[in-house]
Amino acid sequence: MRVLLTGGAGYIGAHTAIALIEAGHDVLIIDDMSGTSVEAVRRVERITGATVPTLVADVRDVDALTAFVREHAPVDAVVHLAGLKAVGESVAEPVRYYDVNVGTSIALLKVMAAEGIHTIVFSSSATVYGTPEALPLTEDSPTGIDLANPYGKTKRIIEEIISDAAAADPQLRAVSLRYFNPVGAHPSGLIGEDPHGIPNNLMPFVSRVAIGALPEVAVFGSDYDTPDGTGLRDYIHVSDLASGHVAALEQASPGYEVYNLGTGEPVSVLELIAAFERASGRDIPRRVAPRRPGDVAATYADPAKAQRELGWSTRLTIDDACRDYWTWQTQNPNGYAGA
Ligand code: UFG
Repeated sequence: MRVLLTGGAGYIGAHTAIALIEAGHDVLIIDDMSGTSVEAVRRVERITGATVPTLVADVRDVDALTAFVREHAPVDAVVHLAGLKAVGESVAEPVRYYDVNVGTSIALLKVMAAEGIHTIVFSSSATVYGTPEALPLTEDSPTGIDLANPYGKTKRIIEEIISDAAAADPQLRAVSLRYFNPVGAHPSGLIGEDPHGIPNNLMPFVSRVAIGALPEVAVFGSDYDTPDGTGLRDYIHVSDLASGHVAALEQASPGYEVYNLGTGEPVSVLELIAAFERASGRDIPRRVAPRRPGDVAATYADPAKAQRELGWSTRLTIDDACRDYWTWQTQNPNGYAGA
């Protein structure tokens, strides 16, 4: 298939581009490069040996997107990852988050309809489950409970828009993938997460501490009702996450489906820090800090539906993810900017 990958130069996007190409698909990327760099696409090309036509533009620029799709016709499918993703920023700038995330998705669906593209795989998030009522989370677990931030709300709204579009168009094959916590990097050390400024997420933060760029990890809460008192999450290696997109794309049938992409294995904050110490061979100082507002104690997936229907399952462990993140970190101390 020829696949248009929106946000294809981002952390998950670049790994998904590699997985698609390695599965025999042709990939086109549209990305505004606001959170990443064209260097990521160059490295995808270096790893795969493929040429990846890339449009540096906002997906909401319908004229530019249409011209790009026509230039590379026929485009068979879209994998839609473009969007803003910082939870805290979404609380401070809600209108921008709704504008970019929802606006991007609507523009894309319009272009797909006009250009006869009938398959979409959308990057949703486990955040749509809000505060879990029961664990593990299945795709039938209630969504929208206590959604603490506009970022999560945009994911839920976009899921509903895509679901409604599929209900109205019998040709549309639509899939939402609810990601748990993506971590790790490409084993080559060439592609990885490149957060700007001080990272918000745990593994990038721990990695900065391991390399000596930050003094210590603040463990946000040690009095949760969990085995060691710290938060439990389902950390999925980004390469496993990427292969989930390939499976979803190849199995998509008319209608709308939702799949959890997670390992099903809860890992605590302290366990992740210990795994990173093993992978890096460094001591990682940490101190207990107050709970972070909006955090839930525990969230992890039941990935059985994706296993059953997509024939997909995770292969890599938290130790693999720490090792690969550390390789990326040590080879690219300044991210893509150092290239
Ligand atoms: N944590 C710390 N210290 C830190 C950072 C995080 O203790 O410096 C803890 C958090 O309290 C939490 C765990 O590490 O228990 C994971 O936190 P992350 O910020 O890495 O990830 P979240 O689970 O908060 O959120 C992530 C993504 C969201 C996505 C969500 C889906 O950031 O985009 O997973 O569940 F929506």
